[in-house]
Amino acid sequence: MTADTEKDIKYLKAIGRVVALALKKMMKDARPGMTTAELDNIGREFLEKEGATSAPQAMYKFPGATCISISPVIAHGIPGDHVLKEGELINIDVSAEMDGYFADTGASMIVAKHIPAIEKMLDATKSALHKAVHAAKAGQPLNIIGKTIQQEANQNGFNVIYDLTGHGIGHKLHEQPSEIHNFYNPSDRRILNEGVVLAIEPFLTTGKGRVVEKKDGWSLQTIDKTIAAQFEHTIIVTKNEPIILTL
Ligand code: CO
Ligand code: CO
Repeated sequence: MTADTEKDIKYLKAIGRVVALALKKMMKDARPGMTTAELDNIGREFLEKEGATSAPQAMYKFPGATCISISPVIAHGIPGDHVLKEGELINIDVSAEMDGYFADTGASMIVAKHIPAIEKMLDATKSALHKAVHAAKAGQPLNIIGKTIQQEANQNGFNVIYDLTGHGIGHKLHEQPSEIHNFYNPSDRRILNEGVVLAIEPFLTTGKGRVVEKKDGWSLQTIDKTIAAQFEHTIIVTKNEPIILTL
């Protein structure tokens, strides 16, 4: 969608804040010995308390309120009886709807441990997100997002995941412009319009950059079982600095 009115911006900011706080709480509360279902419940309760509805559940009947992925799964992991362990690389993705507006955010983290080699990938992914968000200005080509992400990934010695993308968002979880690649696609001629609402989500990996779906029909795992990281923000594109809804 395009945020055309003060009302759009106000409601997008409201749901952006809710998903950001839900993610922050889940990251803070994630600890060894807890199951991913328990962690999901923390997110679910927070969303409910704020009056928001889990987007993947409402839109796709996803079997959880949030996506919790245990490496080498990097997206759409189903919360369940998996017990978190110290040093595990996980990704939490929270998207929700409130008053007809959607926002989407995500982050990767290591459970209760510092592992510099993995933190290097987390930092590079965060940096790719930061640079891409600020490159996304009205009038610029949409593919500047993928170009920026790929450049930052490669400069830090990582690959992007080619088959996971960002997306338009706003009145639905996934809408136009769809397929915001995390790599430079010169044949993509789309231009960023003022006010367009985007979920930008770089995925970086040490591997080949492809994912496969697991037998559960949801979990997306790196094809070579290498580690990967994702960070995601929902933004409103403007002529200058974007409005980042999920800070
Ligand atoms: Co997401
Ligand atoms: Co998303």
